[in-house]
Amino acid sequence: MKTVRIALIGYGNVGKAFAAMLLRKEDYIREAFDAKAIITGICTKSRGVCLCPDGIDTETLTDDMFNKELDDFALIDSGEYDVMIELTPINIMTGQPATDHIRRALQRGKHVITANKGPIAWYYRELRDLAKKQGVGFCHEATVMDGTPVYNLTKETLKGCRITEVSGIFNATTNFILTEMEKGVSFEDAVEEGRRQGFVEADASMDIDGWDASAKLTALMNVLMDVEITPLDIDRTGIGGITKDDIDAAKAQGKRIKLLCRGRVEDGKPVGTVKPTWVDEHTLPAIMDATSSYVTIDTDLMGATTVIEEPFEPEIDHTAYGVLSDLFRILTDYENGF
Ligand SMILES: NC(=O)c1ccc[n+]([C@@H]2O[C@H](COP(=O)([O-])OP(=O)(O)OC[C@H]3O[C@@H](n4cnc5c(N)ncnc54)[C@H](OP(=O)(O)O)[C@@H]3O)[C@@H](O)[C@H]2O)c1
Repeated sequence: MKTVRIALIGYGNVGKAFAAMLLRKEDYIREAFDAKAIITGICTKSRGVCLCPDGIDTETLTDDMFNKELDDFALIDSGEYDVMIELTPINIMTGQPATDHIRRALQRGKHVITANKGPIAWYYRELRDLAKKQGVGFCHEATVMDGTPVYNLTKETLKGCRITEVSGIFNATTNFILTEMEKGVSFEDAVEEGRRQGFVEADASMDIDGWDASAKLTALMNVLMDVEITPLDIDRTGIGGITKDDIDAAKAQGKRIKLLCRGRVEDGKPVGTVKPTWVDEHTLPAIMDATSSYVTIDTDLMGATTVIEEPFEPEIDHTAYGVLSDLFRILTDYENGF
């Protein structure tokens, strides 16, 4: 049986949920891949690095098992691991420091998984090519719509299809706010309710101003349409200007307002838009309520395929599963590499 050693860079909500899921699926991993996956290194910004070549027992992990003298690059550059999983907070405007983490691990010939969309929205082509050159896997399923299969779906089941357009609702926070406003709740109270329920950040501006949706659209276009754009290239309008009157005016005409994303290549140029759009009330985008989201992938050979992410409890398991499914992809694609 082979042993797959994992280094976690970032151990917050996703890192902890992934570690717990890895334990839950221990038997499955042994049976399906004849493998044992162990976490040999964990790094956080404030705690430093915890190392254990035989595998960290994440159920009994405590702060005093971390060495504060060591940092992210100490683990990435010198740690003993096969797969580096990048789970630090996103910087939508730079993709850093996650991109440097990923680049350095790939340069060492390590497989990489990330749930951080920053590097995919800013440096995807460089990182993809580096992984290819190094003969290692670079997977990022959880960067858009959590664990809902989008990249894996296209890779596995739409072979030979050219993707001509991606569209959908990619941001749960804005969809929730718009849904609440339709019930008569004010914009501010809707944001507050989202915070109370735990999925709206203290600073919600990246969602409200459409940056998060733009980063996701950019990531999808870079990966699925092989273009090289950044979130700055998206024609972006957020929902900050939407008023109760707008919602009521749309409703009076049998419509709803949704923050729609759409990306395609026109005359050889990538064109991406994120903007509040009036949609007919019985169409797919209109029935996406609260924190649901969807993506439609249009192709040359078989038209459109749509994937919907429905709310699920605990929601963080969606993301953890996206990371775990990437680990399974690496175990499948590099079966003899461990
Ligand atoms: N949460 C979700 O539902 C979700 C869904 C999809 C994608 N994602 C993405 O997944 C990633 C992780 O999200 P999360 O919710 O787990 O974030 P989180 O709870 O804020 O945890 C982030 C972790 O990264 C650590 N960290 C920060 N800077 C670091 C650095 N330079 N080097 C090493 N560690 C560093 C933090 O350390 P300290 O604890 O010491 O500060 C913390 O352990 C983000 O990129 C996010 O966008 C999250």
